[in-house]
Amino acid sequence: MNPQAPAMPSRYSRITGTGSHLPPRRLSNADMAAMLAERGLETSDEWIVERTGIRARHFAAEGVNASDLALPAAQAALQAAGRTADDVDLIIVATSTPDMVFPSTACILQNRLGANGCAAFDLQAVCSGFVYALTVADSMIRAGTAKCALVVGAEVFSRILDFNDRTTCVLFGDGAGAVVLEASEEPGILATELHADGKHVGILCVPGTVSGGSVLGDPLLKMDGQAVFKLAVGVLDSAARAVLAKAGRTEADVDWLIPHQANIRIMQSTAKKLKLPPEKLVVTVDEHGNTSAASVPLALDAAVRSGRVQRGDTVLLEGVGGGFTWGAVLLDF
Ligand code: ACO
Repeated sequence: MNPQAPAMPSRYSRITGTGSHLPPRRLSNADMAAMLAERGLETSDEWIVERTGIRARHFAAEGVNASDLALPAAQAALQAAGRTADDVDLIIVATSTPDMVFPSTACILQNRLGANGCAAFDLQAVCSGFVYALTVADSMIRAGTAKCALVVGAEVFSRILDFNDRTTCVLFGDGAGAVVLEASEEPGILATELHADGKHVGILCVPGTVSGGSVLGDPLLKMDGQAVFKLAVGVLDSAARAVLAKAGRTEADVDWLIPHQANIRIMQSTAKKLKLPPEKLVVTVDEHGNTSAASVPLALDAAVRSGRVQRGDTVLLEGVGGGFTWGAVLLDF
């Protein structure tokens, strides 16, 4: 073989390792209720559990950034894959809460991992970020431009929550999840599906920005919960059906459904529409809250490490979030 010849593009990409990290500070719903009471706001464990399925979330300590959560998640994924930073030739970090305006959190992570030199960039698709990032990494591996990608979702959403708005601040948490995605002759990722509709920008957003040395506009999360709920239920169903059709599979082939962990009612409705029994639905929203781009890789890693997701299982990942963005990835693990 001519060593100068370009590498043949791989037919598939495959997840070879997963990892995740949660900051140690865990707040139960009772803790949230006490925190809000200090601001004269009322909430309860009963209200939060009944409407969302959330029982607790983790918040990063002051000064802890997205890259600080991403680093141990990435290291755990590399270890699980039997790889080191030297093997990595692509880093994508999905985040809406980056360490800085620039450079990217991916570059900060790259330096801390010691994977300097490879391509590294952030991807911003809010709660669909990980599904978007996995799709981009899969495309780059199949095109022959990368062989060993680190795909990370990392968020410190606690930094953009309005703790005077009880309808949103109880929903979110901080964390990071990561996978190593490698070129493979065997599947792997079977099909991907991405969508966005920018006409819904206003229903879920952080409308502020940095301008002229100060914050312009409101830098805290705003959400029309009911509009988001309705849209999410519809697009998660259509994305699931589209990705299954693309891969030539049916709902009956799905061993595990790992949707974005926003709200148990949205997740159960998605499973029900796909006629999947509740035991095939991976749920971490109860303990993590909504960690935006980190939620899917956090849930995947939890399911892998607990022995539920096994090699060869067919897994349907789904994302939905601000933008509005949504998408799905079907894979054989
Ligand atoms: N504690 C107690 N009461 C509350 C709280 C709270 N934390 N928040 C709102 N309430 C009250 C409201 O004030 C209202 O009271 P009222 O009837 O006296 O006016 C009542 O509860 C009902 O409020 P709604 O907003 O109508 O409650 P709803 O049933 O729509 O639930 C929720 C709100 C949970 C946000 C729901 O709309 C939802 O889950 N939407 C999906 C949004 C989502 O999951 N977003 C995550 C990010 S987006 C994404 O990741 C896709």
